[in-house]
Parts: sequence; C-alpha cells; structure tokens
Amino acid sequence: MEVKSMKPINANNELKALHCVYCGGTGSGKTSAVKKFGNIAATDQVVFWDPHIDYEEIQGRKVRRYTSFSKFAAAVAAGRKTRQGFKIALTVPENRKNFLTFCEIVKRFGNGKHAKLLHVVIEELPQVTESVAKEKSVYGWLLSVGRKFGFVVHSVGQRVTEMSKTTLSQSPYKWVGMQPSAADADRMNKEIEVPINEIKALQPLEYFYKSPGIGNVKSGKLRW
Ligand SMILES: Nc1ncnc2c1ncn2[C@@H]1O[C@H](COP(=O)(O)OP(=O)(O)OP(=O)(O)O)[C@@H](O)[C@H]1O
Ligand SMILES: [Mg+2]
Repeated sequence: MEVKSMKPINANNELKALHCVYCGGTGSGKTSAVKKFGNIAATDQVVFWDPHIDYEEIQGRKVRRYTSFSKFAAAVAAGRKTRQGFKIALTVPENRKNFLTFCEIVKRFGNGKHAKLLHVVIEELPQVTESVAKEKSVYGWLLSVGRKFGFVVHSVGQRVTEMSKTTLSQSPYKWVGMQPSAADADRMNKEIEVPINEIKALQPLEYFYKSPGIGNVKSGKLRW
C-alpha cells in the first residue's frame, strides 16, 4: 500500500470530541491513567508516540513497537484494514520533526465511517511542543478537525504551563494528577474549576477528572 498518498476520508460531524489531556508531575500517574483509567479499551485501535518505551502493554494487550516510520505506517495500514483492535507504538528520537512526521502518518488513517475510532497517545507532549500559543501543525489538526475523522487524541505531559492552548481548549476531558508547581496548580484551578487547595493536596495516583459541562468533575485514585 502506498501510504504516502492516503488522506483522511468520510468526515462525519456526528462524531463527538473525545480528546483527553493527562497532566501531572513525574510519578503522579499519567501513564498509569492512560493504561488503567478506562478511556482506552482492550478492543480499541491505538497508536502511540512513545519515545521512552512507556507502553509495553495496555488493557492486557501487548503493544507492537516499530523504530522506523515506514514499518510503523505499514503496520497501522494493515491494522486499519480490519475492524480488530491493535496497539502499535513508534519509538524514534524525541524531537518536533519526528513527532510531526508521526502525526502526518497517523492523519492519513482517519476515517469518520470506520467501525473503530483511532486513538492517538502522545507521551510527554511538552518535549515536542514549540509554543504554548495556537498549535498550527498537523498535531493541531488532529485536535481541532480530527474528531470528524474518528481520532481520539490522548495528550500526556508533566506541565500544563508547557502545553499549547489548542491542547487544552480542544481536549474536553482532563485527567489532573499531582501538580509539579504552584503555577501549574493555579492554571489547573482555572481549567477545571476545582479549588486550588484541593489541587495542591493531590498525591501520586490521585486525580480529578473533568468531563464536558460546568462542574462536571469527579475525583479518585488509580490502583495497580
Ligand atoms: N506496573 C506498575 N505496577 C505498580 N505500580 C506502578 C506500575 N507502573 C507505575 N506504577 C506506580 O504508579 C505511580 C505513577 O507512575 P506513572 O508512571 O503512571 O507516573 P507518570 O505521571 O506517568 O510519571 P512520568 O511523568 O515520570 O512519566 C508511581 O508511583 C509508580 O511507582
Ligand atoms: Mg509517564
């Protein structure tokens, strides 16, 4: 298959924005939340930007890993031809150029009429973020247009203050763990409207989870 010439197809406005951002300091539980929280199921089709090999398995399924763009693209193409779940990671040097190539490849597999959504997990987004202003790249496209083509973007990062405003405004779901600084806690207070002292009191694996709608926040603790 000539993956390069492919384009996302079947824009479907009935699809809802399900993008989620996971934010908290190191050890707060972000990667654990992606694995355990339940936003991603065993039967889902999932691709991972995974430069540090954080995802060996998820929901009991082994993650297949590729270190070349072309092999990654071929594996995703084969997976998208089916209605079966898959978990496929790309591990290449962590830089903005590689990240945008990953997003370009993934974009081609959008299909608003596909039986399965395509989940896109992005680990340590701030490492490949250029500016906290509007994200104009293909990553911004996945967030702002991608839902119509069946994309669900899971953006993971330690600091909310180092994420673009597009990431925050286009992700209606927010998993908020222990914050690394007062400035981050303050920003989270504005994003999810939970009292600042409650955000500052979060311990590892504890979280607030914001869903669309004012005041629609629940709290809990992840368990291993
Ligand atoms: N497989 C596991 N079994 C038991 N505990 C685990 C496992 N993986 C992670 N944990 C624990 O869960 C907590 C959160 O770890 P996690 O890797 O989810 O944090 P994180 O927010 O992703 O951190 P980082 O920003 O450094 O990647 C840590 O205390 C860790 O020890
Ligand atoms: Mg992590």
